[in-house]
This record gives sequence, C-alpha cells and structure tokens, in this order.
Amino acid sequence: MYKSENTKKLLFVSEKESVTKAQIFGSEPDVIYNACCGEDLAPFDLIDINMGCPVPKIFKNGEGSALLTDILKAESVIKSAVKSGKTITVKIRIGISDSKPYITKEYAKMAENAGASLITIHGRTRENYYSGEVNFDEIEKAKSAVNIPVIANGGIFTEKDADLIIDRTGADGIMLARGAVSDPFLFAKLSNKDTSLTIKEIVLTQIDDMLKNYSDRYVTLNMRKFFPNYFKGRRNAKEFCRL
Ligand SMILES: Cc1cc2nc3c(=O)[nH]c(=O)nc-3n(C[C@H](O)[C@H](O)[C@H](O)COP(=O)(O)O)c2cc1C
Repeated sequence: MYKSENTKKLLFVSEKESVTKAQIFGSEPDVIYNACCGEDLAPFDLIDINMGCPVPKIFKNGEGSALLTDILKAESVIKSAVKSGKTITVKIRIGISDSKPYITKEYAKMAENAGASLITIHGRTRENYYSGEVNFDEIEKAKSAVNIPVIANGGIFTEKDADLIIDRTGADGIMLARGAVSDPFLFAKLSNKDTSLTIKEIVLTQIDDMLKNYSDRYVTLNMRKFFPNYFKGRRNAKEFCRL
C-alpha cells in the first residue's frame, strides 16, 4: 500500500513457480481489503495474512502476532480480505506467551468461519520467537477442530523432524523456514526429488537466477545472508564467507 519499490521487488514471481502466494500484514480491515484488490497482488493465487510476526515494531502497531490478542479484529481483517474474492490463508502462532492461555483452536475455528481457506500454525508463542519446543498438541487440537487444511510449522530441519510433526499433529502439510534456508536440499529431500546437485551448483544457480532480476548490489547483500548457513560446519567456512 506504500508503493515501495523494495516491496515490489519482493513480489517477484519466477516462471518456475506454479502456485504463488504473497503474504501481507496489517490490522486495518479497509487497508487489507484494498491491498487484496490491488494490482500488486493480482498475479498471486493465494494471499496469506501474517498473524504471527513477533517483531516489536510490528507488534506495537497492533499487527502480526498482536492480532492474537484481539480475536474480533483478527476476524474482521480476515473477512475483509476474503471479501476481495481472493483465496485467503492465515498464519498464526499458538499464543502470546506460555504463561497465558493458548489461542490455537479458537483462532483456527474463527479463521475457518471467517472464510480462510487454509491455516498455518507456528507451534510456538510470540514470547518464544524462534526457539524452544514446538507445541505439537496445540497444532493437533486446531487440526481436529477444523475442516480446512492445517499446515504445521516450527523446528523442521531434517526428514525426521518432518515425519515427527506430521505424525504428532495430523497436519495436512508442513512449512519449512530456517531449515530450508540452511539446507537448500531440504525441500528436495522431503519430496523425494533429485538432490545430486553440489552446493557449488546450487549457489551459482541461485546467483545467476537472482542476477536476472536484481542489481549486483542487491544480490551480493542477499547472498551474504545465505552463505554462512550453507557453509556452516564445513572446513574453512569462515574464511570462505569472508571472501
Ligand atoms: C529471519 C526470519 C524472518 C521471518 N519472516 C517471516 C515472515 O515474513 N512471515 C512469516 O510468516 N514468517 C516469518 N518467519 C517465521 C517463519 O516463517 C517460521 O514461522 C519460523 O521461523 C518457525 O519455523 P522454523 O522453526 O522452521 O524456522 C521468519 C523467521 C525468521 C527466522
């Protein structure tokens, strides 16, 4: 909605992607509605509403995971998005803090009734950010309470983690985050696809693909985020990343 050029860059879609999904955040139903109807999101098949972001700047604005403290507002945000006619999905956490009641099941039901087509649950609270145990039981309770697909998220770094979370939650699918960033082969491993590429081939392909759409500077800065993860645990990784 701010017409930022940087945001437009983030909305790039490659021809290799078959189903596309963009994520937005906000707490004003009118703004959300206009964003969903706007031309920037027109190319996307699905629009996801972020109700999980723990970052203080977002939280203080009443957005992201702050919506987990106000179910009526969260509901009106989802309903406004659905009114646009787009397919709307929602991403939540299990609550704000382990010392407060979890909201998972209640929010999953609310999201389904408000017209969401799918819900992704990060099985941690806002307070826990990205660390600590993932609460499988909470995801399972939400999964049992709704008919829309539930995607389980949190702590999936290996095939074993993926099997465990599916087994314990009954989720319809999983979402990878840091695992996929640190192991570029993880998606392929989990979907039994070819993983015979070397890390060098992956890196070079990634750089070439990015250079088709972004400036040298943008690609350099972006790859700086990936390198330390890709080469973690390898010999001379530190020296190599410094180059
Ligand atoms: C640096 C960073 C940025 C993130 N940005 C987003 C985001 O924009 N939207 C979102 O839904 N989740 C975001 N997440 C959260 C992840 O999607 C995911 O819910 C979380 O990392 C737990 O999954 P994991 O344990 O597999 O990493 C972010 C996580 C990290 C570490």
